[in-house]
Amino acid sequence: MKELGIGIIGTGFMGMAHAFAYRAAKATFPDGPAARLVAVADASTAAAEAARDQFGFARATDKWQSLITDPAIDVISITTPNHLHKEMALAAIAAGKHVHCEKPLAPTLADAITMMEAAEAKGVMTQVGYNYIKNPLLKLAREIIGQGEIGRITGFRGIHAEDYMHDPNTPWGWRLDPTGGPGVIADLGSHIIGMARFLIGPIVELVADIETVVSSRPVKAGSTERRAVETDDAARIIARFDNGATGTLEASWVATGRKMQLDFEVIGEKGSLAFTQERFNELQLYRAGGDSRTAGYTRIEAGPQHAPYRNFCVAPGHQLGFNDLKTIEIGEWLAGIASGTSPGPDFREAVEIQKVVDAAIRSSQDRRWKTVG
Ligand SMILES: NC(=O)c1ccc[n+]([C@@H]2O[C@H](COP(=O)([O-])OP(=O)(O)OC[C@H]3O[C@@H](n4cnc5c(N)ncnc54)[C@H](O)[C@@H]3O)[C@@H](O)[C@H]2O)c1
Repeated sequence: MKELGIGIIGTGFMGMAHAFAYRAAKATFPDGPAARLVAVADASTAAAEAARDQFGFARATDKWQSLITDPAIDVISITTPNHLHKEMALAAIAAGKHVHCEKPLAPTLADAITMMEAAEAKGVMTQVGYNYIKNPLLKLAREIIGQGEIGRITGFRGIHAEDYMHDPNTPWGWRLDPTGGPGVIADLGSHIIGMARFLIGPIVELVADIETVVSSRPVKAGSTERRAVETDDAARIIARFDNGATGTLEASWVATGRKMQLDFEVIGEKGSLAFTQERFNELQLYRAGGDSRTAGYTRIEAGPQHAPYRNFCVAPGHQLGFNDLKTIEIGEWLAGIASGTSPGPDFREAVEIQKVVDAAIRSSQDRRWKTVG
């Protein structure tokens, strides 16, 4: 499989990131299949045509369905608002396309399960856009934990906080549309839940408090008419993991001042790990029991020894960026299609993440601990 035909639906933040990554993937992962940019679709014709010209797609359209019926397309990337994911994914799966869908996979757990089952029944491969765990240093963190280097894991503290919704006059947008599912618990919460699962394993039980901080927002930019908000702005979870560790997870899009506080601490009996996405080329490692005079966290700096950093740069400390994480995700995804082995996270893992989101919502509504799934 030397070449895969790509169709991307959506040309916003993620549509551009996907297009960039598909273009960069062959240059950074030369052993993998090349991505041929066949078509890009957007509800706005002008946006689709601009993306076509910018990235070199063969064609642009305002009808995403034309990508589904296009025999030159092997892989569909869905980068549209959440309420559209299910319809688009099911159509692509039915047509036998491999599907990359942005997170959160679907508005509800039931929808996510329907999508997963359809893909597995059809035998197509799937991927969901949890790009942050593609960081080489996150793979190192998982390796350090998995090899027992910091001992038995007893605690996890995770947060994904940003502030793009903190202003009460930020107008209505698709992220507040309840037909797209919950608010920040799914939008950002799913990233930190996925990261916790990647590092520590399944969450089995939780109690959550989820709230709407801004109760109404302008119906559109500059309007004095306001609409009641039905989705959540902040979520806090206390969790128990399958391996016995306990932890907290937090998500907020009203965290004034925070731009990308996707942080965690993993506490083990023999050491700890600490990480923040705002400095994601660094991982902090503490080993207990050393010389008390020099004891402290060690800063591990990303470099070519942390695969696949070298594919981007041969020099340590020169740093990867957000689009590089997306390129790693897409490079692994294309190689996975070629080999028939999913690099994950696939729809099945996205369903597991969604089960945690679902349990958190149920817990907050009932004011009680809930079993996940
Ligand atoms: N992985 C990440 O780190 C990450 C970051 C941001 C967003 N996301 C996810 O990506 C998805 C899109 O988010 P975004 O920030 O790119 O949104 P966006 O608003 O920037 O872009 C959405 C695009 O979809 C297009 N669109 C809407 N309806 C359409 C239709 N019927 N047919 C074709 N195109 C249509 C819009 O015109 C727009 O270009 C969401 O699911 C979001 O949660 C993931």
